[in-house]
Amino acid sequence: MFKKIQGFSKLPKQEKIQWLADNYFHDKEEGKKILESYWNQDKKLQELHDDFIENTISNFYMPYAVAPNFTINEKNYTVPMVIEESSVVAAAALVAKFWSDKGGFKATVLGTTKIGQVHFMYKGDFNSLKEYFNKKKNDLYKATDSITKNMRKRGGGIVDIELRDKTNELDNYYQLHVTFDTKDSMGANFINSVLEAMAKAFKNDDIQIVMSILSNYVPDCRVRAEVSCKVEELYEKDAQHYAEKFIQALNIANAEVHRAVTHNKGIMNGIDAVVLATGNDFRAVEAGVHAYAARTGKYKSLSGGKIENGIFSFWLEIPLALGTVGGMTKIHPLAKLSLEILGNPSAEELMQVVACVGLAQNFAALRALTTTGIQSGHMKMHLNNIIKQLNATKEQTAILLDYFKDKPVSHSDVVKKFEEINY
Ligand code: MEV
Repeated sequence: MFKKIQGFSKLPKQEKIQWLADNYFHDKEEGKKILESYWNQDKKLQELHDDFIENTISNFYMPYAVAPNFTINEKNYTVPMVIEESSVVAAAALVAKFWSDKGGFKATVLGTTKIGQVHFMYKGDFNSLKEYFNKKKNDLYKATDSITKNMRKRGGGIVDIELRDKTNELDNYYQLHVTFDTKDSMGANFINSVLEAMAKAFKNDDIQIVMSILSNYVPDCRVRAEVSCKVEELYEKDAQHYAEKFIQALNIANAEVHRAVTHNKGIMNGIDAVVLATGNDFRAVEAGVHAYAARTGKYKSLSGGKIENGIFSFWLEIPLALGTVGGMTKIHPLAKLSLEILGNPSAEELMQVVACVGLAQNFAALRALTTTGIQSGHMKMHLNNIIKQLNATKEQTAILLDYFKDKPVSHSDVVKKFEEINY
């Protein structure tokens, strides 16, 4: 049955929960207890979280972990990661160690500019519009002067304003296509405020502003991460064969969309985890990265690799709009702490770290897929989780781990074996 309620957002938290319990919970008291058990005992901290969004009724925890031993541009990092998938942090830590013994990761920021657009409709002659734009351009800067003042002091601000004719895509459609440098902030609020002020100053009777908004497609805010080593250092046995298979896996991800999406999902396992841990906007990153993967008109791998003169190289290039000031980065105590663990990096340094974790994750996945397969590693973590759910004793855990070390793990088989030994 559809349950409609008026004024829900104005109800106190307890009443919101009571309404949920009355309408949705199978066991009202149990449901309420679960929600309350996730409230923070520190009232101030809970209030902070309550105020992040509307209608907060509790907190949804995710595991917060660290992957140590990342060597990036000859600097050592311990990387905070927030993720629920069992094998991701273990893989990152293993690969970090593997590459730190081989000179580590290299990362380079290839650009830092971001885009915002004022989308508008205009039915007149393009040359008159161009003339109007050229006359107005200075006023557009002036109209945003008070908003950009602090950013300009930090060396950022508006880089360029272009008039773009988009009538080939849509009748009467034009844009003010604005390039920004937002320095260490992700800059979403800054960009949107600037665009709205610009739109106000730009509109006239012939120009119908449709909307003003930043773009999450940021191919010029891009970073490259790479690793390389001698082929024989890559694998203990049959390294050449293994390296070639690894490159074939990359070729397949470039050739075929179903594989490309899963391949890139593995990269995002690492990227999202650090983006989340540092209080950045993972939806913006996801949207921008996948658009970049499809920039040629075909969705492809974000990573690449080659074997040349006995050297194996592996790289990743992705757009990343990240901030280390503003937004959640300093408001969420854990995000702030994550940045502290990373040595309070600039946005550019954070881009480098995040890209390297993405590359590490992709390396771990391809290494497993082209050798043992991923299930043995995944199943080990899965087995541990099932054992925990069963509340097995230390002795029972040891028996179960030993029993399943050379057998496929399924939930029902583990439960069956547990029942056998739990008498
Ligand atoms: C699982 O979360 C990620 C992988 O599927 C990535 C891949 O297939 O490359 C293992």
